Amino acid sequence: MISFSTPIFLLGSLFIGLLSQFALATPTLVTKDVYVPPITYPTANAVWSVGEVQTVTWDVSTPPQQITNPNGRIFLRAGDRTTPLVLANNFNILDGKVNITVPNVLTRNDYSIVLFGDSGNFSPQFQIKGVDL
Ligand SMILES: *[C@@H]1O[C@H](CO)[C@@H](O)[C@H](O)[C@H]1NC(C)=O
Repeated sequence: MISFSTPIFLLGSLFIGLLSQFALATPTLVTKDVYVPPITYPTANAVWSVGEVQTVTWDVSTPPQQITNPNGRIFLRAGDRTTPLVLANNFNILDGKVNITVPNVLTRNDYSIVLFGDSGNFSPQFQIKGVDL
């Protein structure tokens, strides 16, 4: 005869109880730790020229308590494609700004930048005056 008060049964229900708490808690933790701060510059009316130093800025007023990856990276995007051009790397995502040098690219009015920390965030599209072929 199985008694529900045997130690093994108690251990088993404790284990299942811990598992279900973990399952419930996990999505909340993941959501809280992903930090995607909005880019405040460049804006849609920015015009950059090749070789200039420009200051990219983003809003760090509401950071989460814990950030999974504090290392920021900024890539240049052209149209709907992210280019391999790294404009900045290894800065703290909580800095709120970083200086970049505008790379030697073709003139286009649909560039944007992607700021990566935990996740990526795009700026609006803007113009870079560069090389005209
Ligand atoms: C970033 O660029 C701005 C504007 O060109 C300049 O005033 C500032 O000194 C630069 N900061 C650093 C850390 O290079």
